[in-house]
Amino acid sequence: MRHLISPLDFTTEEIDHILDLAADIERRPERYAHRCDGKVLATLFYEPSTRTRLSFESAMLHLGGQVLGFASADSSSAAKGESVSDTIRMISCYADIAAMRHPKEGAAMVASLHASIPVINGGDGGHQHPTQTLTDLHTIRSIKGHFSGLTVGFCGDLKFGRTVHSLINALSRYPDMKFILISPKELRIPDYLRENVLEKKGIPYEEVTSLDNALPKLDILYMTRVQKERFFSEDEYLRLRDLYILTREKMSLAGPDCIVMHPLPRVNEISVEVDDDPRAVYFRQVNYGKFARMALILFLLGLEEPGDLPESL
Ligand code: NCD
Repeated sequence: MRHLISPLDFTTEEIDHILDLAADIERRPERYAHRCDGKVLATLFYEPSTRTRLSFESAMLHLGGQVLGFASADSSSAAKGESVSDTIRMISCYADIAAMRHPKEGAAMVASLHASIPVINGGDGGHQHPTQTLTDLHTIRSIKGHFSGLTVGFCGDLKFGRTVHSLINALSRYPDMKFILISPKELRIPDYLRENVLEKKGIPYEEVTSLDNALPKLDILYMTRVQKERFFSEDEYLRLRDLYILTREKMSLAGPDCIVMHPLPRVNEISVEVDDDPRAVYFRQVNYGKFARMALILFLLGLEEPGDLPESL
């Protein structure tokens, strides 16, 4: 049985395979519309979410499966003090696969150790967010056609932004990548990423504070929200939250093929006037995310092929 806790749990070949499947689902959705008939996905969300939870639910419903779950810790037995390991043991009796989001780093990993069904990490604190990474990889491959030789700028909260950590990990496995890390000093990437991934693999990267200087060099600009909920001090958050705002004027510094991605939700960091720019792909990203999650569910349930279902299904 496989789980998805970190983007590195899958080989690059497996990722290619999942993204091929996602592209095929997008092309021929009717072929997959009943692949999960009779299967149940549990969404265990201990932290707020709109896109990720609904994307999982929509993915399972479009595969013919059903969903159950909870959308906040307050409405689950966590409020009574139940541990993640007990909850997942119980959920294993009700569902065939589970997607979990939790404010604590490592929570999904703990769940996977006690589960008898595949567990998908839908975000664990400021640590990892591997299904956003599948979404991002599917977006990049669909628009750019490949992963090699790209200069990717990550801008905003690189310290707490788990989507950034997961995507840097995943992209570091492809050849000739270059990263420009744009943030204030206080919100730079964690040391473990710099040392264990970038330095160790000899990946060229720069840590800079100016978005304007970086923009002309980028193939991809990955904007992020300052992660208010992970700050210890409100004043610190208020001081840092509006340092980077992508406007139409700034977009004139970017090349004609530079795409702008964002995991969403957006707060102030991309002005709405940028939404109409054809290089802004963040709403398309949401759509790619649904197909990536559909493919992931099929992969983890071993249902990629139609199997012996009657032709009429
Ligand atoms: C991200 C997350 O939850 O980490 N959102 C998402 O899943 N699309 C990014 C964020 O909350 O800023």
